[in-house]
Amino acid sequence: MLPAMAERPVSTLNKPDVALELTLRPSIFSEFTGQPKVKERLEIAVAAAKKRGEAIDHILLSGPPGLGKTTLAYIIAKAMGTNLKATSGPTIEKAADLAGLLTNLEEGDVLFIDEIHRLQKTIEEYLYPAMEDFKLDIIIDQGPNARSVRLNLPRFTLIGATTRSGLLTAPLLTRFAVRERLDYYVAEDLQKIVVRSARLLNVEIEADGAFEIARRSRGTPRIANNLLRRVRDYAQVRHDGRITRDVADRALAMLEIDQNGLDEMDKRILEAIIAKFSGGPVGVSSLAVAVGEEPDTIEEVYEPYLIMEGYLKRTPQGRVATELSFKKLGLTPPADHQPKLFKLQP
Ligand SMILES: Nc1ncnc2c1ncn2[C@@H]1O[C@H](COP(=O)(O)OP(=O)(O)OP(=O)(O)O)[C@@H](O)[C@H]1O
Ligand SMILES: [Mg+2]
Repeated sequence: MLPAMAERPVSTLNKPDVALELTLRPSIFSEFTGQPKVKERLEIAVAAAKKRGEAIDHILLSGPPGLGKTTLAYIIAKAMGTNLKATSGPTIEKAADLAGLLTNLEEGDVLFIDEIHRLQKTIEEYLYPAMEDFKLDIIIDQGPNARSVRLNLPRFTLIGATTRSGLLTAPLLTRFAVRERLDYYVAEDLQKIVVRSARLLNVEIEADGAFEIARRSRGTPRIANNLLRRVRDYAQVRHDGRITRDVADRALAMLEIDQNGLDEMDKRILEAIIAKFSGGPVGVSSLAVAVGEEPDTIEEVYEPYLIMEGYLKRTPQGRVATELSFKKLGLTPPADHQPKLFKLQP
């Protein structure tokens, strides 16, 4: 693993705030807003497993940061009435670490492995029989006395979370019977999340104010919650504490969150593609150097949203800025497909 990958890629507004997330994290399905299809399928899987009195099948949750993967894992465990033991791919360093985790599970428990794409290959191989047959083959002793011992494990559920399901190996991927991908939220769902969070934080907010925060949150509940907190600060210091549309707008302008919710790094990426690489195509590593960010972070955190919103296109040659990006920066895209010919407008 490259050292650069050891760092968790997060923009400041998509950084988990442990205390905040604990208070605002919904703990039951009915409080989890949005993602209706994913929610329905998971609720059915939980209900069916409970009806049969079995542990629920292994589940893989994927999608960009801050969309609710960890939240769902806890909701599932709670709905099943079981314990959840949480760990993450990079913290399992030795096979013994994994053996320790697995042998400490009780029947029906959930083992939650966050960032499962960062599990080492050797450790991943121990997981295969554990997931499939609930057996763990471990080698004890060394040298001539070394022997393999097979341990029986309780029937547990593995819930894996990843921002990069594309990096998972096929054998691991196929051992998850349930695979769900979370997508960016629509503004209406984020609005409900903001209203709920405001209630929990004792903040007075108008529906318009909540919508303004929601539509500028990059489709991400974590960002919506973080923005809500910062807008609240602004409302308390500069106004009477109540978040109206106008107060939200001013606060977000002060935070340099633009009308479409793009943050500073989003804009830096678009600017780099247009001004430094003539609109593209440009490879992700050159782009990463140009904006001073890790290639993985660009791919995991920034690009998916920019692509979804139509600012960027991914082509076999690299990333290309769309007409919308040019407009965003107040430029006219070149008519002759020779992006080098245009200049920044004054
Ligand atoms: N559907 C939802 N309804 C209400 N709040 C939500 C929802 N999804 C996420 N949140 C809020 O957003 C926060 C971030 O969600 P969560 O930690 O589950 O994201 P994640 O997908 O695990 O992110 P990461 O990839 O960074 O680990 C939660 O603490 C919760 O407050
Ligand atoms: Mg998480």
